[in-house]
Amino acid sequence: MSTENLTHLAVIMDGNGRWAKKRNLPRTAGHLAGLKALKKIILASKKSDVKFLSLYAFSTENWRRPDSEVNYLMNLIASKLPSEIKFYKSEQIRILVRGDRTNLPKAAINAINKVEDETKEFSAITVILCINYGGHDEIVRSVNSILKENPTTEITEDLIKSHMQFNDIVPCVDMIVRSAGEKRLSNFLLWESAYAELGFYDTLFPDWDEQMINIVIKDYQSRIRKFGGIS
Ligand code: IPE
Ligand code: IPE
Ligand code: MG
Repeated sequence: MSTENLTHLAVIMDGNGRWAKKRNLPRTAGHLAGLKALKKIILASKKSDVKFLSLYAFSTENWRRPDSEVNYLMNLIASKLPSEIKFYKSEQIRILVRGDRTNLPKAAINAINKVEDETKEFSAITVILCINYGGHDEIVRSVNSILKENPTTEITEDLIKSHMQFNDIVPCVDMIVRSAGEKRLSNFLLWESAYAELGFYDTLFPDWDEQMINIVIKDYQSRIRKFGGIS
């Protein structure tokens, strides 16, 4: 049994498109249904005392999707983030957005800045939305910021870690889980996944609810983490 609590859980929210296809609905309906599931799993995680919840919402590779789908997702970010501020406040939820926001549409950047600012005092649970996030991109950006500070420094693991976004606020991920059956990381949290526990579940993301979070937590508690040592 894992003696540690699941402090930082990360979810690769996959399967929105398949959920919609099964119902003969447009992919956009799957994203809307995913949004409803997302709210449920935030509340369930908070209830189970998960302190940090990272959610993979848009990868650096998702720009390859049709313009109409990318625009739909960007509009969802720009409209839903601010419209949910009341909910975040009532539940004491802090929102952070991880990834390269500089290339997002202006309306999405404004929404992100607003929601981060208006929830910065809260700590019941910190939700890290990963938007235009890529593990490769994150490592490259970290190294570039080290070199900007000191072009002749020797790169070390500690330096790379300490120059990553929110490194001072968000602890290393304990478990990365993925919905919808695919067994890959798709460029998510590559640096941090070195010793994360992994979990893959067939349930499509829009069907995730409190029960799924309870299953994930139980799975985590059954793992023995050794970090290269002996148990
Ligand atoms: C995940 O669901 C949501 C995003 C990547 C934005 P998908 O849209 O990838 O759903 P599938 O994989 O096509 O079913
Ligand atoms: C991973 O899902 C990215 C997010 C959940 C945001 P994808 O559906 O984009 O991943 P691949 O393409 O199947 O690897
Ligand atoms: Mg997918």
